[in-house]
Amino acid sequence: MRKNIVAGNWKMNLDYEQGLSLFSEIVNMVKDEVVGDQEVVVCSPFIHLSSIAKLATAKVAVGAQNIHQADAGAYTGEVSASQVKSVGAAYVILGHSERRGYFGETDALLAEKVNTALKNELKPIFCIGETKDEREAGNFFDIIKTQLEQGVFHLSAEEFAKVVLAYEPVWAIGTGLTASPEQAQEVHAFIRATLAAKYGQELADATTILYGGSCNPSNAEDLFSQADIDGGLIGGASLKSRDFLSIVKAFNTK
Ligand code: 13P
Repeated sequence: MRKNIVAGNWKMNLDYEQGLSLFSEIVNMVKDEVVGDQEVVVCSPFIHLSSIAKLATAKVAVGAQNIHQADAGAYTGEVSASQVKSVGAAYVILGHSERRGYFGETDALLAEKVNTALKNELKPIFCIGETKDEREAGNFFDIIKTQLEQGVFHLSAEEFAKVVLAYEPVWAIGTGLTASPEQAQEVHAFIRATLAAKYGQELADATTILYGGSCNPSNAEDLFSQADIDGGLIGGASLKSRDFLSIVKAFNTK
């Protein structure tokens, strides 16, 4: 009914040669492991994108980690959605907490970037999630709902159907503190119910919602076995082909 995706987010890691060899290893290793309607996505720094996109397959797609909201122009150092699309990338991560936190990306800016991505036929992997303080204060459902409302709920149903969501609790990113399968499932179910209220149950059921935050080979299977968790957005563990493959394989049991 909905696609399962395991996506790697390399963040600002790996030089050019390291990235190329990791991507080649991933393509070779997942050849026989990706079953059914499952997709593997690798989101690399821009520097690798055009080279790895040439090696992409029907099972392993590539994506960027950012785009500028404008179509083109005098924006020194930025990269546009059409440039990313032109090298063969299919996805772009938007709304990652590192972009929100370190680069001040607001919900309003992210809504613009989502529009620009869709206009250029890039599928957004749109990240949402609460900080540690917000979790402890108990208002994380409100935070997540607001991020959805302001980041993607301006889209028509037809547009929203192209969006992949990723729930990434900020307190679990790079910390080794994974959300328990029950904690993650609780939020994923809330997200799907929020989508159903906005776009109807059918579209909510068809939406892929990934979990991200210290997902690794030892916890992936338990996380992915939850009813509303449709895959993972993997940081650190996506930098080692064997770990990434183990996470990809964790789906074969679902
Ligand atoms: P880690 O898997 O390293 O916690 O990172 C998760 C993440 O931010 C993926 O986008």
